[in-house]
Amino acid sequence: MRLILLGPPGAGKGTQAGLLAAQYQIQKIATGDMLRAAVQSGSALGKEVEHIMQAGALVPDDLIIRLVQDCIAQPDYQRGFLLDGFPRNIPQAQALQAAKVQIDHVIEISVDDDELIERITGRRVHAPSGRVYHIHYNPPKEADRDDITCEPLVQRDDDKLETVHKRLQVYREQTAPLVDFYVQWAAQGDPLAPVFHSVDGTGSVAVVRDRIVAALEAC
Ligand code: AP5
Repeated sequence: MRLILLGPPGAGKGTQAGLLAAQYQIQKIATGDMLRAAVQSGSALGKEVEHIMQAGALVPDDLIIRLVQDCIAQPDYQRGFLLDGFPRNIPQAQALQAAKVQIDHVIEISVDDDELIERITGRRVHAPSGRVYHIHYNPPKEADRDDITCEPLVQRDDDKLETVHKRLQVYREQTAPLVDFYVQWAAQGDPLAPVFHSVDGTGSVAVVRDRIVAALEAC
């Protein structure tokens, strides 16, 4: 099983990626998480991308393509993987195509802008583990504390309202065209083209997961 999860910031890609990776016992490749870990570690990569992420822009294609290809080449990923946050634009999708990385399904999770903004601005994270909460929809047991370690939760730097608007604009301009890219590829009858699914991302986390699983298992 090789999957791509597409969708705007806050659509629930990371939340669903964790559930699907566990259900299908495949590796999760979350480019945003990888980049945030690099920033937190203070590595050269982290220093290079920190200001780009804070501004809500995309990091350079060559850098992220190399990161993903290195990951996919590892033995653990041969059983299957789920890409969360990649590809993010047409050149990244073309790089996967050119490398002949076979993808079985592309799942677009759609949610309207008002709900995306509410989800993102209410998100809190435990930075060391990447565990994600929401102040209303998925609150921690104790306010602003991680359930496992009791350490403080923080708001992501790029979750401030002004940056969220920029990220939504970047999504519309650079990532949304991937929907047409995959729909048209599948329409060509190419046996290598992934099956494209568009899934309503509103409702509870469990309801959205069930919709995705139903779409995958209908094929
Ligand atoms: P990345 O981390 O990938 O951010 P994103 O795509 O903007 O997505 P988010 O993490 O904001 O949202 P999500 O869809 O995962 O939602 P979540 O499940 O957390 O990328 C960050 C940055 O890294 C980019 O801006 C860019 O700079 C860089 N980058 C990454 N990949 C790149 C690439 N390929 N190329 C170039 N640059 C790249 O849910 C959100 C909230 O809603 C949570 O609080 C959650 O608890 C809650 N929630 C989830 N589902 C539901 C539900 N059904 N109902 C109610 N609440 C819900």
